[in-house]
Amino acid sequence: MSIFAYLPALPPFLFSTLVVSGLASKALHIGLHIRSLPFLHFVIYSPTLVLPDLLIITCGRVLLQYPAPETRLQWLSTCVGGFFALVTWGASAIQFGFFFQTGAEVAWTASNSFLSDPAAMKILLSGISTVSAAATVLALVAWLLHFQLYNITGRALEGIRDLCVSGYNSCKGNYQGRYTLLSAPSKSWINSVDIRSARRAAFIVAGCLSLLFLELVRPAIPYDHLSSALPLALLDAFNTKSSTLEGCRNPSKIFPLWTDVKPVPLAEGWSRPSWLPENMHDGFSRWDVHPDERGERDNPSWYLCSGGDDGGLYNPKSDPLKISNLGREIYDPLKQAFKEHSVAIDNVILLTLESGRKDMFPMQPDTPLFESLLASHPEENRDSAIDRLLSSTPIAQMLTGEHVRDSHGKLMDFSNATWKDTAQEGMGGLNVRGALTGSTLTFKSILGSHCGVNPLPVDMLEESLLEIYQPCLPQLFEAFNKAKDDAPESSIEPEKVLDRKSLTNQSESLKFPWKSVFMQSITDDYDRQDILNDHMGFKHKVVRSTLKDHESKYQAHGEEINYFGYAETELKPYIRDLFEEAAINKTRIFLSHVTSTTHHPWSTPEDFEMESYMGHEGTVNHDLMNNYINAARFVDNWLGDLMTMLDETGIANSTLVVIVGDHGQAFGEDNKDMTGTYNNPHISNFRVPLVFRHPHMPRVDITANATALSIIPTILDMLVQSKSLDSRDSEIASAVLPEYQGQSLIRPFASHVRENTGAHPDEVKHDDTANGQTKSVWNFGLINAGGSMLSVTAADLPYRLILPIKDDFEYVFTHLGEDPGEVSPSKSWSFSELVEEAGAKFGNEAATWLEDAEKVGKWYVNDQRRIWGYREA
Ligand SMILES: *[C@@H]1O[C@H](CO)[C@@H](O)[C@H](O)[C@H]1NC(C)=O
Ligand SMILES: *[C@@H]1O[C@H](CO)[C@@H](O)[C@H](O)[C@H]1NC(C)=O
Ligand SMILES: *[C@@H]1O[C@H](CO)[C@@H](O)[C@H](O)[C@H]1NC(C)=O
Ligand SMILES: *[C@@H]1O[C@H](CO)[C@@H](O)[C@H](O)[C@H]1NC(C)=O
Repeated sequence: MSIFAYLPALPPFLFSTLVVSGLASKALHIGLHIRSLPFLHFVIYSPTLVLPDLLIITCGRVLLQYPAPETRLQWLSTCVGGFFALVTWGASAIQFGFFFQTGAEVAWTASNSFLSDPAAMKILLSGISTVSAAATVLALVAWLLHFQLYNITGRALEGIRDLCVSGYNSCKGNYQGRYTLLSAPSKSWINSVDIRSARRAAFIVAGCLSLLFLELVRPAIPYDHLSSALPLALLDAFNTKSSTLEGCRNPSKIFPLWTDVKPVPLAEGWSRPSWLPENMHDGFSRWDVHPDERGERDNPSWYLCSGGDDGGLYNPKSDPLKISNLGREIYDPLKQAFKEHSVAIDNVILLTLESGRKDMFPMQPDTPLFESLLASHPEENRDSAIDRLLSSTPIAQMLTGEHVRDSHGKLMDFSNATWKDTAQEGMGGLNVRGALTGSTLTFKSILGSHCGVNPLPVDMLEESLLEIYQPCLPQLFEAFNKAKDDAPESSIEPEKVLDRKSLTNQSESLKFPWKSVFMQSITDDYDRQDILNDHMGFKHKVVRSTLKDHESKYQAHGEEINYFGYAETELKPYIRDLFEEAAINKTRIFLSHVTSTTHHPWSTPEDFEMESYMGHEGTVNHDLMNNYINAARFVDNWLGDLMTMLDETGIANSTLVVIVGDHGQAFGEDNKDMTGTYNNPHISNFRVPLVFRHPHMPRVDITANATALSIIPTILDMLVQSKSLDSRDSEIASAVLPEYQGQSLIRPFASHVRENTGAHPDEVKHDDTANGQTKSVWNFGLINAGGSMLSVTAADLPYRLILPIKDDFEYVFTHLGEDPGEVSPSKSWSFSELVEEAGAKFGNEAATWLEDAEKVGKWYVNDQRRIWGYREA
C-alpha cells in the first residue's frame, strides 16, 4: 500500500507549496525595488515579470500528478516535482527570514561562498527562528489553498490545451476526444469548435505575442533581475562568475578625469633599492623582483582584465588618484613635541573596533542617530535618557578628547570608569572626525588599516589568495628586524641614534626586535581570515582555538557569547604577558586586536549588567539597538582595561595606540527599510572613529574625510619624526612612506589640490591640458560582501554616489550636507535620470560631480582588479 493512501492530497499540497512560495518570494523581490521603478514602465512590463513563474507553475502542475502516482514514470515525476517544491519552499523561507532580520535580499550568487563556509552558516542559523516562522506560514497558506490552486490551474491548463487541440483538430476536421494528460476534475465546457473558442484562441495568441514583444523590448536592467524566480534563481548559486557592470567587456583603462598623469612603466630605471634588506620578499616583491622577471604576472593575457604593461602591480608614479600631503608642514604642536624628543614610540597597538560607529565613539548628542535614540523615549523621560546614553562610553571620551555635556551641561565624572587617563591636559594625540571605512566587510576593511591597500571589488575575501600589493605593518616591522640582522654593527651611526632624550637605554631600545601578534577572542577561520593574517605577516596569534586548547597557557573561563567565540576579556592574560614582554624583555611589540562583542547578535557575558537605553516609542523594535549599545559599553570598558594594563606594565608612555572602526552598523533607528551591512550602502555603515593615541603627543583635532589608508603613512611618519627608529630603519620607513596611497595625518589633510598650490611640486605636474583644474581625494568603499556596490565620495564635497557593480542594484545619490542621516536618498535604475534628479534638487555642481563620480568609480573597479592581478575563476 502506498503512502499516498495516508496522504491522499500530497501532490496537490506540494504543488500549492511551490506556487505559494514562488509567488510570495516574487512579491517580496519586487516589493523591495518598487519604489525606484518608474510607475508607468512598471505597469507596462509587470506581466513579463511573472513569465518565469508561470513556466514553473506549469511544469510543477504537470509533474505533480493526482491521484496517487502508480507507474514508475509517475513516481519519478512526483519526486522531481516534489523536490522542486521543497527547494522553493526552503529558499523562500530563507529569503523572508533574511528580509525580516535585515531588510535585505539574499543574493544567491554570493551564497555560493556563504554555504561553503562553516562560520557563515552559523550566521544563517542564528536567524533560524525567523526562517522557521516564515516556512510555517508559507506551508499553512499552501495547505489552505492547495485544493483551489490545484483545481484552478488544472482547469486553466486544460482549457488552453483543449483550445490548442480543438483548434488543431478543427483544421483537420477530425476531433478524437479528450485525452487526460492533465487529470483535473473534468468540465467539458468545450465539445466542438465554435466561434467562442476561436475567439478565445485568437485572444490567447494575441496575448502571448504581446507578452513576447514586451519581454523583448523591456530594458534588461532592472527587469531581468526583477523577473528572476525561485527555484531558477537558485541556479545562480552554482554560477561562480559575478557579472560586473563594466566587467571586462569595456574596461576604461584611461583615467577619465584629469589627463596629466603619464604612466611610468615600473621597469623604467628599476634597480634594487639599497635600503631593502636581503631575503625580504614578503610584501616587498615590488621592490625586490625586477618587473620584467615576474613571469606570468607580467603577461597581460594572464589577467582577465589586464590594464596594461604593469598589470598586477601597484605603481604610485602612475596612480592618478594619489594625492600626497608629505610636502605640507607637520602641525605645529606636534612638530614642537617631536623636536623636543618627548614622544617615544617603542610599541604600536592597532585596535579594530568591530561595528564601531563614529557617532558612538563616544556617544554624543547632535547626531542623526542620537535624535532617533531619544525619540524612542517619551518627552518626560528624555533628560534621564540623555544622561544614561551619554555616560555609556567614558573611555571613548577620554581617548578622543571629545568630552560631552549631560542634560545639566556638566562634564562627566569618570571616577568609576575602568581607566584613569594619565595624560596631561591638552595631550593625547590625534582624533579624526569624518573618517570613512574602505569596506563594510571586516577583513576587506582591515586590509586598508594593516596594509594601506584598497580591497578588491569582488565578493568575500578573495584577496587572501593573492599577493597584497603593499607591505603590511607586520612586514614593515619584519623588514626593520631583518635590517638589523644584515647590518654590521658599525653601520649604525651612533650620533643619529643618540639624539633621543634619555640617551643610552632608549637608544639601545631602538635596536630591539619587533614582534607582531594578532589577537581576537573569536574564531579566525571565517572566510579565510587565517590565511589573510598569514599573508599580512603575523607569525603569532591568539584566537578562539587558542582559548579553547587545553595545551594553551591560558584557557577561557567564560562561555562563548556569540556564534564566533568568546568575549574579549578572555584575552586579558595573553595581553598582559605581551605587554610585560615589551616592558622587560627587550622586545618592541606590534599588537593587532579586533574586538568582537559588538558583532551581531550583540550578546554580552552573563555577568555583565545590562542597562536599558531605549524607550518604546515609534514603530521600530528597539531591542537590537539596546543590545548594541550595551555591547558598545562592554567594549568601552574593555578598552579601559587595555589602557590600564599599558599603565600597569609601564609601557603606556612609549606606546602608540591606533583605534579604528572596521565599519559602522545600520539599525532600524537609522533607516527603517534596511539594517545591517550586507548589501546595505547606508552611510551609518561607513562612519568610523579614527584615533592615534599617545600620552605625550599634543592633542590635535582633525576634521577630514580620511580613510584607514592613512593609518600606515601616519604611523611611519610618526615613527620617523619622533626618532623612534634607528637610522637604517628610518631610511626604510622614509623610502616606503611616499609609496602608500594614503596621506599622513600628522600633516594637514589635502582633500584636493589645485594646480601649483598646496601639493608638493613633485606630485603635481600640470604640463598641458589641465589649467587650474581641481583634483580631489576620492574615497571608495565596498559594501559587504564586496562585489555588489561601490560607495563613491570625494573628500572635499558632501555628495555620495552608490554605484552598482552588479546589474541587480540601483544607483543612489545623497547630499550628506543636507541629509546627514541619508533619510531620503534619490534612487534610480537609470544613471541619467539620477543625474537629472540630483541636478534639479541640488544644482549643477551636484550633477557634474555625479557624472565624474560615476566615471571614476567604474575606472576604479577595473583598476583595482588590475592592481591585484585578479582573475576570476
Ligand atoms: C560610582 O560607583 C559607586 C558604587 O557603585 C556609586 O555609588 C557612585 O554613584 C558612582 N559614581 C558615579 C559618578 O557614577
Ligand atoms: C566629511 O567630513 C565632514 C566633517 O566631519 C562630514 O560632515 C561629512 O559628512 C564627511 N563626508 C562624508 C562623505 O562622510
Ligand atoms: C623573554 O625572551 C626570551 C627569549 O626570546 C623568551 O624565552 C622568554 O620567554 C621571554 N620572556 C617573557 C616574559 O616574555
Ligand atoms: C609617563 O609620563 C608621565 C608624564 O606625562 C609621567 O608622570 C609618568 O610617570 C610616566 N610613566 C612612566 C611609567 O614612566
